[in-house]
Amino acid sequence: MAKENPAPRWGVMGTGGRAHALARALGPHLTAVGSRSHGRARAFAHTWNLPTAHDNYADLAADPGVDVVHVATPHPWHHPHTLLALHAGKHVLVEAPLAMNASQTTHLLHTAHAAGCFLMEGSPPRHLPIHRLVHRIVAQGAIGQVSSVHAQYHLQIPYDPAHRHFDLEQGGGALLDAGIHPLRPTHWYLGELTVVGATRPLAPGQMVDTATTVLAHGAGGATATLSCASQTPSTQQALITGTTGQIQIQGLYRAEHAVLHRQGHAPQPLYRPAQNGAHPHQSQEVTRCLQQGRTQSPVMPWAHSRALAQTLDRVRDTATLLPDPAHLTSTPRT
Ligand SMILES: NC(=O)c1ccc[n+]([C@@H]2O[C@H](COP(=O)([O-])OP(=O)(O)OC[C@H]3O[C@@H](n4cnc5c(N)ncnc54)[C@H](OP(=O)(O)O)[C@@H]3O)[C@@H](O)[C@H]2O)c1
Repeated sequence: MAKENPAPRWGVMGTGGRAHALARALGPHLTAVGSRSHGRARAFAHTWNLPTAHDNYADLAADPGVDVVHVATPHPWHHPHTLLALHAGKHVLVEAPLAMNASQTTHLLHTAHAAGCFLMEGSPPRHLPIHRLVHRIVAQGAIGQVSSVHAQYHLQIPYDPAHRHFDLEQGGGALLDAGIHPLRPTHWYLGELTVVGATRPLAPGQMVDTATTVLAHGAGGATATLSCASQTPSTQQALITGTTGQIQIQGLYRAEHAVLHRQGHAPQPLYRPAQNGAHPHQSQEVTRCLQQGRTQSPVMPWAHSRALAQTLDRVRDTATLLPDPAHLTSTPRT
């Protein structure tokens, strides 16, 4: 009987929110952390009982005890940090967005290809069983021909100009953070999008958006209306409409439930439980791909990252910038 490849050993760059989410999902398979600070590296390693803590990212990339690096730094640094790992011959999972624009994204994909390394943009919801079920039944014609996708991902984040969500230097703005979530399922169902128009209210006195609304269409004429926001009550949903029915998915990021509406039938609830959120499903996909010798995942292939980055570029190029109608009432940090 063929011997199965051992599970890959992971290292994480950064010690923020996503790094902790990964540590929770990976358990003992996370073996090392890299931080810009010795103290933060030690504290993270202590919290998660990791054998190795590096006080810089280059040493993590070069660590022979690490097979896969998870890049969990803010998005302006995804490109340089991913290159660091790929040049050291490591497989890489990068938090979304893969990079800041389509040009950087293409460069990373070419580098991974040349190095023969696995590379995937983090897209935890796409790996959730309910999203995979809905994708499968839509492909099988459960709602006929898809004619539109309407998706929303709204968050309410306390305003703090120093937080990465509101700081341009840290890649701030709703689009590159929350905006990924409605765009992903839309790309999944409609393919490459033509952006017709977009609006982006900006935080007062800043060049970061607190919301973005996009009107787009796919190659076959199906339409998309998408919105993301960082200053409105939390709402997350996708509505996929076809010629004979509709599917509604609630809570994109942690979704377990959907409802299938078909002409002449009672609404049909669909349920697929997730294992403690989407992250365990995503890391299992990386393991599966590595054990099969793949450099890209069929669930989140490179073409999808490229198309997503192109759409994000187009939204930024075409958007009308507006004053933010919301009141950013929280006291700014001094
Ligand atoms: N896939 C998704 O659905 C999803 C969801 C949420 C977030 N994200 C993405 O994941 C990335 C990380 O998000 P997060 O919420 O974990 O951020 P975070 O809590 O701010 O942590 C980012 C970490 O990156 C490191 N870092 C390196 N250079 C930095 C710099 N110049 N400024 C600030 N931090 C720096 C820091 O660790 P050290 O200083 O210890 O090195 C910091 O702890 C972002 O790109 C975000 O958009 C993706």
